[in-house]
Amino acid sequence: MKKNMYILGIESSCDETSASIVRNGVEEIATVIASQISVHKDYGGVVPEIASRQHVKKITLVLEECLKKADMKMKDIDAIAITYGPGLIGSLLVGLEAAKTLAFINGKPLIPVHHIAGHIYANSLVEELQFPLLALVVSGGHTEIIEMPEHYKFNKIGGTLDDAIGECYDKVARVIGLEYPGGPKVDKLAKEGEPTYKLPVPLKDDSYNFSFSGLKSAVINLAHHEEQIGRKIKQANLAASFQKVAVESVISKMRKAIIDKKAKTVIVAGGVAANQGLRKAMEKLAKELDVKLSIPPMKYCTDNAAMIAAAGYYAYLDGRRGDLTLNSKSTDVLK
Ligand code: KG4
Ligand code: ZN
Repeated sequence: MKKNMYILGIESSCDETSASIVRNGVEEIATVIASQISVHKDYGGVVPEIASRQHVKKITLVLEECLKKADMKMKDIDAIAITYGPGLIGSLLVGLEAAKTLAFINGKPLIPVHHIAGHIYANSLVEELQFPLLALVVSGGHTEIIEMPEHYKFNKIGGTLDDAIGECYDKVARVIGLEYPGGPKVDKLAKEGEPTYKLPVPLKDDSYNFSFSGLKSAVINLAHHEEQIGRKIKQANLAASFQKVAVESVISKMRKAIIDKKAKTVIVAGGVAANQGLRKAMEKLAKELDVKLSIPPMKYCTDNAAMIAAAGYYAYLDGRRGDLTLNSKSTDVLK
């Protein structure tokens, strides 16, 4: 085993084309992200076919730029980590083919990384992970609580029964009339309002599961009802009301999980980990239950290849390898 392993990570599962080089799963050397936000904005969301084409356009440039930024050549890279799934299949395939090609031409190991493992390992770029830990994964496609007894061992104890929290944020943003990507805008607006609208707290049961479709429908119905009776929605108040209930729902399940599992370390991961309301509420909960909490800085919350390269290092140590038959998967359980 080399003292220093430089992993080149590639991420293209949704609307960001990204490459990054990370040393030993902890130190980011260089990262390049080409975001497609401006391309999808006019459509109010990510258009899969357009996303794939954008990845094709950008992938080579992003890879070249990343190596240049790191002042490294492919010969300096020890392995290539790639998001094989889950995500948009056409988008995933672009990154995967690039990764396979680079691995094959340069004779480097190929490491398949699950996108959610990447989000979790974003925390490893900030501080050393301490096990056992509980990871709260909140993104556009996932809302899960995962137990990790040690590096690269994942045990899902709960998840959403329907929509992901980020998906719900984006939908609510649309109802309020905010532009894509709506999650961060709802978050910002929530700070300016008061939670005056009454919305149902979802799934108040004993499980570690979540449900967001009912809350989403409640916001849509409320907006329609106000419109029908000729009343103008107070946008900031609706954002604040929604955020309060969404965060409360996550916190109540996390409280139960931390107590039941006697967790000492908790991490938050995924795009919605950037949410100010959730960050504050998690900090308060961690203090109350006396657990160590780690939330990545904003730049590691949303999709990036540094998290994939970091996860790739630990996946490599776990013996995980891909070959030229490796395929992308639009859905896949983290294991
Ligand atoms: O992790 P990510 O970049 O992509 C997925 O893997 O899904 O997460 C994107 C999701 C989007 O739904 C976006 O609206 C949401 O994360 N998001 C937020 C915030 N920042 C990003 N949601 C609420 N508050 C935020 N500040
Ligand atoms: Zn993501």
